[in-house]
Parts: sequence; C-alpha cells; structure tokens
Amino acid sequence: MRKIQNIGTKISLSSIGRSGKKQSRKTILVAGGAGFLGSHLCKRLLDEGHTVICADNFQTGRSANVLELTTNSSFSVIRHDVIKPLKLAGPLDEIYNLACAASPPKYQQDPIHTMQTCVNGTLNLLNMARDKGARFFQASTSEVYGDPVVHPQSEGYFGNVNPYGPRSCYDEGKRAAEALCHDFAERYDVTVKVARIFNTYGPQMLADDGRVVSNFIVQALRGEPITIYGSGSQTRSFCYVDDLVDGIVKLIRSDGSVTTPVNLGNPVEFTIRQLAELVIEQTGTGSHLKMCTLPVDDPKQRRPDISKAKQTLNWEPSIMLAEGVRRTTAYFASQLQAEPQAISESA
Ligand SMILES: NC(=O)c1ccc[n+]([C@@H]2O[C@H](COP(=O)([O-])OP(=O)(O)OC[C@H]3O[C@@H](n4cnc5c(N)ncnc54)[C@H](O)[C@@H]3O)[C@@H](O)[C@H]2O)c1
Repeated sequence: MRKIQNIGTKISLSSIGRSGKKQSRKTILVAGGAGFLGSHLCKRLLDEGHTVICADNFQTGRSANVLELTTNSSFSVIRHDVIKPLKLAGPLDEIYNLACAASPPKYQQDPIHTMQTCVNGTLNLLNMARDKGARFFQASTSEVYGDPVVHPQSEGYFGNVNPYGPRSCYDEGKRAAEALCHDFAERYDVTVKVARIFNTYGPQMLADDGRVVSNFIVQALRGEPITIYGSGSQTRSFCYVDDLVDGIVKLIRSDGSVTTPVNLGNPVEFTIRQLAELVIEQTGTGSHLKMCTLPVDDPKQRRPDISKAKQTLNWEPSIMLAEGVRRTTAYFASQLQAEPQAISESA
C-alpha cells in the first residue's frame, strides 16, 4: 500500500469547480478526513479544485479511503489526534470537523477518548478557526435527539438523551460540542455551521463498522444470518453519502442567515425489517433473519424534519434507498473479491 504522506499546502487564485463555474481556490482542513464521510468530502473538495489537508488519527479511518486522493498534489494527510491542538502554518478558509468514530461499537471501545474527541477536539479546532478566520463546520448528529418523543425531529426539539449510559459519551459529547460552537460564534464571531446528520451510508464504510446498512449487506454477501436487533419494527431514515456531502458543502457556504443547527438526512422512513428485506432481494442471498436483543438506549424511531435545509440551503436528498443500497452492495462485493479477508473477518 502506498505510504500516506505529509505534503505542504499550496494556494493559487482560482479553479473550475464541479459546476463549471470559476470559484476562488480555498485551503481546507478536514478533521476525520480518512473516515467514511470525511474521505467522500475530501474528494468532493478536491474535485472543486481546492487544497485539502486531512487530519486523522486513523481510529476508524483507513489509508485505503484516501489512497487514490494522494495522487493529487493538492491533497495532504497528517496523522493527528484532535484531542491535542494542531499547528498548521499558513491560512485556512474552511475547517470541517468530522473527527469522531460514529458507530456505537467503535465509539464505545474507548468512551473517555470519544468524549475527549467531541469536546477537546472541537475546542481545539474552533480555536484554530478563530485564529485563522476560517469558517467552521461541525458534524453533529441526530443522536442529540436521543430516543425522541417527538416525531419527526425538527431542530427546535431538545431531545431525550440518557446522560448516564453507554451511548452518553457520544450523544452528550456531541451536545457539548454544539454548545461550544454556539459560544465561539457568539463570543468570537466565528462563522460556525452545525449539521445534525442522520443515518448516512455508502461505499467506504467499514465492513465491521457495526452500522445497520453495512452490517446487513456484508452479512448477506457472506451468506450469514442477518441480525435484526429488537422486532425490526424500529424505523430509521437512510441518506446516501453523495447527498449528504452535498448538504455539508452547501451548509458551510451558506449565508449569515443560517446560524443555528440544520438537520441533514433523508426524511423517507423505513423499518429495519424493510431494509433487511431490500438487501436480501438485491443480493439474492440465502441468508435468513436472526432476531437479537435491542441494545440499551437504542432509539425506536428516527426521521429528520428537513424543512429548514430545504428552505435555507435548497437541499434535499435525491438518491433513493434502492439505488444507494445497490451502489453500496457493489462496493462491498468488490471489496470481497479483492480482499476476502477484509470482509470475512468482520464482526
Ligand atoms: N455516518 C453517519 O451516519 C453519521 C451520522 C451522524 C453523525 N455523523 C458524524 O460525522 C462524522 C463522520 O462520521 P463517519 O460516518 O465518517 O465516521 P467514521 O468513523 O468513518 O469517521 C470518523 C473519522 O474520524 C477519525 N477520528 C476519530 N477520532 C479522532 C480523533 N480524536 N482525532 C482525529 N481523528 C479522529 C477516525 O479515524 C475516522 O477517520 C462523525 O463526527 C460522526 O459523528 C455521521
């Protein structure tokens, strides 16, 4: 595997972006850029012609996710844990904070570090945004709504979160991070944009990630039982990664009228059983469903109200679940062919 390299940043005046429009070339830091969402975001920003620095501790990120990007001289990778301050020379236009393991089994492996990542990591990156005059994007989460008693969830809902449980390191950490974002915007006039991201899936998720879409697809491809936690009647809404990345970029570039968190996710709701049936149909697997006990504090319903994103960003998802699952299945199938171990060793 090609070595991850640290390359200096370069700035030039302008470039042609995806839209074909000329736009100013930015220097951008993506913390957590080697992860699932971060690597798609880095690619999108490079495609727009920007200089991108990815900082990641590789806890759940993989060099394979960004390997192709390292052939672009405008891309560099720094191995760094955001719980410590990061020193970077030169100007920065945008900072995206995606650093934090998102899957429950992963963030629960070291819950204290997860809390530090959410709080100290966000604080360090906000300080950097203030010092460099950079715009700041915070990847918050639908988990700030906990096990919601209001459905669907709009941004005005304060949530129903357990502050003392196995998910608290993440849920409360992300809530604290939002509070820090608020205070940096108020105190230091940092341009801060917070997205509450709902369940997103797609290529480059880890095979052993523990999130439901990758779990089901990998189990189906391996011909193993598809594990459903609870009755399978709990619902989730699933957003394909390309839609989500589009929303993130629109949000950070939004005007001064967008000052509070915005839900980003797909409002179409499916039961977990429906998702399993779709995966079985698409993969043609002989796998059967295996019912397991629901984990502690697992939310029973989740669906974003995305009216605010529609109105303020002119954003809504366009990729249907069937199409997204097809693309994600193709990705995991190719991984299985290339590296059978990578998939067969998954939990
Ligand atoms: N994917 C989703 O459905 C979803 C939903 C809600 C919120 N989010 C948020 O989006 C962000 C990205 O999620 P993802 O799905 O890509 O998860 P991921 O686990 O694939 O990516 C997280 C990345 O952050 C890195 N990281 C973790 N702790 C770090 C630290 N202390 N210092 C530096 N790097 C660190 C990991 O190595 C990884 O590359 C996370 O902040 C997550 O909370 C994701």
